[in-house]
Amino acid sequence: MSHILEVKDLTLHYLTRFGQKIHAVTDVSFTMKQGEILGIAGESGCGKSTLVNGLMGLFIPPLYPTSGDVLVSGESLMNRTTKDIRTNILSQKVSMIPQGAFNALNPTRKIKDIAADVMAAHSENKSGNKREIYERLRERFDLFGMETDRILNSYPIQLTAGERQRSVIGISTLLNPKVVIADEPTSALDVTTQKVVIKMIFDLLEKNIFSTMIFITHELPLLRHVAHNIAIMYAGEFVECGTAVQVVHDPRHPYTKALMGAMLSADANQKNKKPTTIEGAPPSLAKKIEGCRFAERCPSARPECRNKNQNLRMVGERLVRCDYAE
Ligand SMILES: Nc1ncnc2c1ncn2[C@@H]1O[C@H](COP(=O)(O)OP(=O)(O)O)[C@@H](O)[C@H]1O
Ligand SMILES: [Mg+2]
Repeated sequence: MSHILEVKDLTLHYLTRFGQKIHAVTDVSFTMKQGEILGIAGESGCGKSTLVNGLMGLFIPPLYPTSGDVLVSGESLMNRTTKDIRTNILSQKVSMIPQGAFNALNPTRKIKDIAADVMAAHSENKSGNKREIYERLRERFDLFGMETDRILNSYPIQLTAGERQRSVIGISTLLNPKVVIADEPTSALDVTTQKVVIKMIFDLLEKNIFSTMIFITHELPLLRHVAHNIAIMYAGEFVECGTAVQVVHDPRHPYTKALMGAMLSADANQKNKKPTTIEGAPPSLAKKIEGCRFAERCPSARPECRNKNQNLRMVGERLVRCDYAE
């Protein structure tokens, strides 16, 4: 089967006002088949949201592509104007469920008008038949057992956090996009609301509204129940890629191990073990990094790790960016 998403050596940088380059994403490569759910996990600041912009072909200064390619159903998203991407790619081919629903919603517009604006921005048909959009929206919200009339006629501030996030999800998937990217869709929510939002995402998958998804989180254990495959990101690079079972239950990269250790408290079965924290901080992305990016914090680092660049290599059946992983 051909790939629905192909990412080849994607490298992205920010150019700050002071002329400083931030190398936020380095050499990320992966492919996805239709129906696949890929989880991406890593600490805050490791480049997840930057990668999301790259995967949508959305380069708004100060973000720039350095090199590499992103192809959706064989069509490259690089070197396209923002207008072209907004009209022809976003919402239809690739759609993002953003991190903070509140920021994503214009506070001065009702939910139904926000939806109409979004649809108008993302389709050739600018006149965008509003009645048609409302009907589609109504159908979709009904499908998820939402209080459709009240929610569509409310301003964001009149809704609960969960209703807002579910509205954002409903709107961003209205056109049945080929690939959906959920960027920490639950991170600002309380545990109960998180469950409602996750359930809605699974309902959408079950009802075939979309079938291919990238789910991004800083909570690796969450992905065990969500993803088929997992990529672990550290300081702009993928450091381990494998099936969810491999990565969560049998991590091989020292960073993945540390990430699981730091998260043990989230796992009821591991109650007796003490969660460990990962000492230190990731390296600055403002300069080119020599050697292994995790060496400074790695409990099993050897002296040579600090000068030796690490490449992804096969360890068993998964990819690991560490020469000493077994
Ligand atoms: N607009 C920006 N200008 C400069 N640097 C940025 C900008 N946005 C993010 N960064 C930097 O890029 C890196 C990756 O950030 P981000 O992709 O937001 O990480 P994550 O989503 O994993 O928390 C961080 O070092 C961050 O400080
Ligand atoms: Mg982010």
